[in-house]
Amino acid sequence: MGESMKGMKRTHYCGELTAANVGQDVTVMGWVNKNRDMSQRFFIVVRDRTGLVQVVVDAERAVQYALAKEIRGEYVIAARGKVIARTPQNVNPEMPTGEIEIDIEELRILSESDTPPFTPLDEGVAMDTRLKYRYLDLRRADVHKIMKLRHTVAQTIRRYLTEEGYIEVETPYLTNSSPEGARDYLVPSRNGGFYALPQSPQQLKQLLMVAGMDKYFQIAKCFRDEDLRADRQPEFTQIDIEASFVDEEDIHAMMEGMMQRVFKEAMDVDVAVPFPRMTWLDAMEKYGTDKPDLRYGLELVDLSALPVIADTDFQVFAAALENGGRVRGINATGLAALPRKQIDALVETARGENAKGLAWINLMEDGTIKSTIGKFFDDAQTAEIITAMAARPGDLILLCADTVEISRLALGAVRVALGKHYLPELPAGTFPTDFKFLWVTHFPLFEYAPEEGRYYAAHHPFTSPLEEDEHLLESDPGAVRARQYDLVLNGSEQAGGSIRIHRRDLQDRMFAALGFTPERAKAGFAHFLEALQYGVPPHGGIAPGLDRLIMNMTGATSLREVIAFPKVKDGSCPMTEAPGPVDAAQLEELGIAVVKSE
Ligand code: AMO
Ligand code: AMP
Repeated sequence: MGESMKGMKRTHYCGELTAANVGQDVTVMGWVNKNRDMSQRFFIVVRDRTGLVQVVVDAERAVQYALAKEIRGEYVIAARGKVIARTPQNVNPEMPTGEIEIDIEELRILSESDTPPFTPLDEGVAMDTRLKYRYLDLRRADVHKIMKLRHTVAQTIRRYLTEEGYIEVETPYLTNSSPEGARDYLVPSRNGGFYALPQSPQQLKQLLMVAGMDKYFQIAKCFRDEDLRADRQPEFTQIDIEASFVDEEDIHAMMEGMMQRVFKEAMDVDVAVPFPRMTWLDAMEKYGTDKPDLRYGLELVDLSALPVIADTDFQVFAAALENGGRVRGINATGLAALPRKQIDALVETARGENAKGLAWINLMEDGTIKSTIGKFFDDAQTAEIITAMAARPGDLILLCADTVEISRLALGAVRVALGKHYLPELPAGTFPTDFKFLWVTHFPLFEYAPEEGRYYAAHHPFTSPLEEDEHLLESDPGAVRARQYDLVLNGSEQAGGSIRIHRRDLQDRMFAALGFTPERAKAGFAHFLEALQYGVPPHGGIAPGLDRLIMNMTGATSLREVIAFPKVKDGSCPMTEAPGPVDAAQLEELGIAVVKSE
């Protein structure tokens, strides 16, 4: 139930009103945040997307007073009246509009509300309830703030790329399934075939380069039927970019300019450019990950060549080295007193990356040393390890002996777990201010899948190998480095891109290296391979994930918080309950029969 707004026109947003408006006749419209009955007066706090303002209904205005009695939380009302200054003792410094209130002359209920499952005033509402009623959740000021930031970022990027000469082109969402990606979302069609929703517009943007568009971008939805994680949604948004006649440096400079502009305009944060660059190999050796968080140090140290380690009798270390593995360490500075329980948790973290264990040395502040490997290393030998790790009293050294890869990944994961101790805790609702960007370059072109006995494209099959490694494509694919670059921000992958293959012969060799017969390559990529025969400019590009960027800018812990209507763990939407069944008639039209699995 509710009245119409006829004859009333909003003059101001709630949050806009200040002492400067005192004496003016204003009309606000919005939701009732709170309605307090205070002896002969109602104090109604009205909310819209800009904030809150208090309206006062005095008993002297009998009609309005009677109506105010009816008004409950989340009703939508219209209120007209005079802005008056609050008396000094009634000023609310917590409220941006707390110096004033509106003395009501006209009041209307535009829409009533049942008691909602929660209101913006409730704290600690369970995530599934928030998402089931996401339209109520989105009423909260902090969620609004994130959506607004997202809008500003998208608009800034559009403006920036437009100024840089990029043209926005839309590519279809109903397209073909293409092998080698993640699992597709399929859309059945009435002619018996299936469309696939794009995992990214990769091939199409390359074809736009063949078409001579020169510089393209698109804020594009991408769909991947992967397992959900905090930083992965089945449906997400890329700022998809491609340019012709460019090399790595051109793309890096364009992205650096974009990030600089975005952080300045959306958050008034200055980010320094150029961003540091690091090869994939250096990142793996120093940080045990291809997306290092540079907000803290804690670099991995390879101790394998240190004489006390190389010549040790300690079976765990000796065996790892004998098998071509490594002994690596990490100096958790200042954490010597880390409780045993937390150290055990770090060991579990390492085990999660298949490490067999961790050894540790605590350098207590009082100069005593506690070591789990004291049996195998005397004091002088322990001192050599401590020196090599540049450790001092108060530090904790963690050591891992394993294969080249496991020792990296295990300590890399331990490093991330330790990193929490070095990051300042942000008060709820505040956005972070420390942003450390990094380019990771020279990724391996292929990853080997031992179960299948074949190589996969580490990124996608259109990524160009490094020119000097091209000759290894057939003889030693595992050693070929790619002209791929990732943009990393605070330990999270923001963007991936590469210089592409623009020659048909090289693309054919790439598919062959991936184990495709020429026939299969043709079956999967016919139009694309054909296009490579008609004059292709050297080209490259990149695609930052918009959701990830916003997640990092706001310090959100999950993508769900930065997407208006996100999906949950099993890929479903708690609000619409999609995916759901469809009518038998719709299935019949499509010629589809659904078989229920056990
Ligand atoms: P890539 O697969 O690395 O590259 O994706 C680029 C960026 O998209 C974001 N992203 C995601 N965000 C949320 N949920 C997901 N499931 C998800 N998957 C990816 C990340 C990532 O860095 N076509 C290439 C780009 C190119 O080569 O130009 C591509 O899609 O921020
Ligand atoms: P043990 O001889 O089994 O008592 O092991 C001595 C120490 O070595 C213990 O602290 C183990 O946790 C540790 N350790 C076991 N495996 C490894 C490994 N792969 N790398 C480093 N330390 C290990």
